[in-house]
Amino acid sequence: MKAVVCERYGPPEVLKFTDVPKPEPKADEILVKIRAATVTLGDCEVRAFKVAGWVWLPLRIALGITRPRQPILGTEMAGDVVAVGADVRNFSVGDRVFGSTSFAMGTYAQFKAVSKAAPITKIPDGVDYVTVAGIPTGGLNGLHFVRKCEVKPGETVLVNGAGGSIGSFAVQLAKQRGAEVTAVDRGDKLEMLKELGADHVIDYQAEDFTASGRRYDVIIDVVGKIRFDATFRTLNEGGRLFLGNPYVPHMIKGLMARRHPTKKVLFALAGEPIDDLDYLKNLIASGTITMPIDRHFPLSEIVAAHRYVEAGHKKGIVVIDIPQED
Ligand SMILES: NC(=O)c1ccc[n+]([C@@H]2O[C@H](COP(=O)([O-])OP(=O)(O)OC[C@H]3O[C@@H](n4cnc5c(N)ncnc54)[C@H](OP(=O)(O)O)[C@@H]3O)[C@@H](O)[C@H]2O)c1
Repeated sequence: MKAVVCERYGPPEVLKFTDVPKPEPKADEILVKIRAATVTLGDCEVRAFKVAGWVWLPLRIALGITRPRQPILGTEMAGDVVAVGADVRNFSVGDRVFGSTSFAMGTYAQFKAVSKAAPITKIPDGVDYVTVAGIPTGGLNGLHFVRKCEVKPGETVLVNGAGGSIGSFAVQLAKQRGAEVTAVDRGDKLEMLKELGADHVIDYQAEDFTASGRRYDVIIDVVGKIRFDATFRTLNEGGRLFLGNPYVPHMIKGLMARRHPTKKVLFALAGEPIDDLDYLKNLIASGTITMPIDRHFPLSEIVAAHRYVEAGHKKGIVVIDIPQED
């Protein structure tokens, strides 16, 4: 089958489009013929091994000390079940599915064998593969951040790094809960953010949101690029600051901020519950929220796709179209 392999950590050029053996599903696995994958910033961070200091060692052990243990990267996919192992009861051949392969990765390929217990679920009728492919990273994290902050109707919510995978979901999910949402990102993403429902937008290159005098009930920092003290001061009494991409100095300050009588600093990694994938797919199927698709790249142009995502040009989701011929 066609796939992209990554035999060492490094720049986008370490990714090679090539032929590899097609996987055989084990008794407790399904074989998915992938139609659409995505490139997330997280994929680029794994490829380059550019991660926060506090997760460097555990991630290096998990992903491979000298080179990626799983040479085919990519964690998001949507496709068709084409074979099921003898012990699989929850999927059948012909099911249209999407989800995450998590640390098993392997979605930059025509086929992937995944555990029947993986965070994979069926695609609703009438919804195409591309429309759900980006739910696992953007949707699950955006939902987790908004839930942890207990966003309530009428509250003011600021999302920093709103124009990417996670932020574009966080903006929509906060709006869905009745909040007044301010989206902060680079200027060329602000129009899209207004279309997704943001009430106010701020170009972070032109304006520092902590300097305007406005305060917020909830601040969700998706990218980890805030000035902590100024941001904490920008919270209203009773406000919550969520650190979506926390670095050690911010976590230490967050722990110290626990002494504050009313304001809270939160950080917690999102899980991948299938119930949440189903909740999000139903919101998309009903048109309550939309999946902002930026560009498509063929699998053979994965290097260009990684360059594009890494450069920060992406607005929402970048889709990888997987060749369908065997
Ligand atoms: N906490 C968790 O559980 C978790 C889970 C998955 C991922 N993550 C991490 O979360 C981060 C974001 O992921 P993502 O997939 O949403 O990334 P993304 O799609 O690249 O979105 C990040 C957005 O932030 C913008 N940005 C960059 N610098 C900014 C600044 N100083 N102020 C405001 N906005 C800024 C980027 O725009 P420009 O680059 O164009 O400026 C981009 O639009 C990644 O580092 C990822 O590893 C965390």
